[in-house]
Amino acid sequence: IHNVVYDDAHYASSVVAAEIAQLIREREQEGRPCVLGLATGSSPIRVYEELVRLHREEGLSFKNVVTFNLDEYYPMSNQNVQSYHYFMQEYLFKHIDIPEENINIPKGDLEPEEVLEFCVSYEKKIKSYGGLDFQLLGIGRTGHIGFNEPGSHFNSRTRLITLDHLTRSDAAPAFLGIENVPKKAITMGIRTVLDARRVVLLAWGQNKAEIVQKAVEGEITSQVPSTYLQEHDNTTFILDKGAASELT
Ligand code: F6R
Repeated sequence: IHNVVYDDAHYASSVVAAEIAQLIREREQEGRPCVLGLATGSSPIRVYEELVRLHREEGLSFKNVVTFNLDEYYPMSNQNVQSYHYFMQEYLFKHIDIPEENINIPKGDLEPEEVLEFCVSYEKKIKSYGGLDFQLLGIGRTGHIGFNEPGSHFNSRTRLITLDHLTRSDAAPAFLGIENVPKKAITMGIRTVLDARRVVLLAWGQNKAEIVQKAVEGEITSQVPSTYLQEHDNTTFILDKGAASELT
């Protein structure tokens, strides 16, 4: 893992957006789709705002981009304002020219008996595009990436998981109470993430400092799933001073 620490999360986000824009343009020139793995939550918001700006002001086109989001709560309807479907529409997709059929997000509204088949097809679809060129990540205070909570196997793939109590309590304000936070989610697996050719993890603020230190400097363990990124040879953690403050 390579760390880069910035004074300002806003500026750092524009650097990440510029890397994504460059990749989109490279793939366009090569005449093949750019396959992006995307995250939700507070960490990537400014990256998406900057991508929208690049689309509006600098002609960056997403016609050639295919996206796969990391996760979605389960059960969850797409129209729910707390859904990751809604989040992605609001912060990114409705502002850019990506074809609707190029957008992939785990479905929160499946019947229980449909979940397994959906998860297998999600993995197949990623493979059918030649794998993820770039995966954007945040990190949860449990050490999760996507919703791969402690205990996740390093070879895990897209599947239904049970959310940790800490993850649900961090989400509680948005849901106006922990009792409203879904208990499960569908998430890409650790191996799905590690198969991406490039991984960029964003973490902002002091309250991520302890878990960032464990992820980067701790021993590799399923108890802190983000430590598996130490085995990926093209991962960068983009941090502000707060998130980097516990690193030695
Ligand atoms: C979201 C996701 C999660 C978040 C993590 C951090 O798609 O997969 O792993 O990235 O929970 O969330 P924020 O950015 O809200 O601190």
